[in-house]
Amino acid sequence: MTSNNSITSNLATSPNNALLRATQLNKTVTVGEQKLAIIKDVDIHVDAGEFVVIMGKSGSGKSTLLGLLAALDYPDNGSVELAGTTLSSLDEDALAAIRQRDMGFVFQSFHLLPTLTVAENIAFPLDIARRPDKARVNELIAAVGLEPRRNSLPNQLSGGEQQRTAVARALVSRPKIVFADEPTGNLDEQNADQVMQLLLDLRQQTGSALVVVTHDPALAEMADRVITMHDGMIDDSHDDKQFAHG
Ligand SMILES: Nc1ncnc2c1ncn2[C@@H]1O[C@H](COP(=O)(O)OP(=O)(O)OP(=O)(O)O)[C@@H](O)[C@H]1O
Ligand SMILES: [Mg+2]
Repeated sequence: MTSNNSITSNLATSPNNALLRATQLNKTVTVGEQKLAIIKDVDIHVDAGEFVVIMGKSGSGKSTLLGLLAALDYPDNGSVELAGTTLSSLDEDALAAIRQRDMGFVFQSFHLLPTLTVAENIAFPLDIARRPDKARVNELIAAVGLEPRRNSLPNQLSGGEQQRTAVARALVSRPKIVFADEPTGNLDEQNADQVMQLLLDLRQQTGSALVVVTHDPALAEMADRVITMHDGMIDDSHDDKQFAHG
């Protein structure tokens, strides 16, 4: 336990130009009669274009934290700012607009839409934002190597092809930040490598920041920074240096 994690000290130590800044996030859930704290006093910042990996044991709070950072879920306390805008201060419409414009998601719960083809799924974020862009969609389809499958439905694709479609969809609108929860979790090694390389290549093209939850040490090695979660908290005893190969 540290005693100096007050809001003031964190504001003083966080860089002012962070793209995403979460301050003193807390989340509890009620299970039966019990209130369980599952996210405890978490402070996190992500810089523009930065690749941050979140690791930690099963149940340590990684997916919950990612949901809070992406404003898919609300904290009990604390705030999340994206490019200076406090997300919790926005109404649903304003938040939806920011999600469409500035955020990409590769979540296992964010399935591809089953009645849309590969091309239509990838185009979807642009279409709902009323910014259709065929050239951009074609560029992404090519980048993920799915030209021969562009008219296939998700249930006609392999797991790796579905993940590649999801990655293309997450990046099509050139979001400021992409959140991914175990994007390579269900894939064999070859497909996992391919999906991750793709995410990194696309990030380089679009300059998006990446926040990726993973158990994969190979992925952690590629990150600019690794954050380890332990029991709902950020474990400061680990830092990225131990993952670096120098
Ligand atoms: N809605 C909920 N109700 C009750 N408990 C919850 C709820 N959501 C999450 N939890 C609990 O909070 C803790 C953190 O869950 P979370 O899904 O964030 O873990 P995780 O680090 O992503 O784990 P994994 O690596 O297995 O995906 C777990 O103990 C989980 O059981
Ligand atoms: Mg999880």
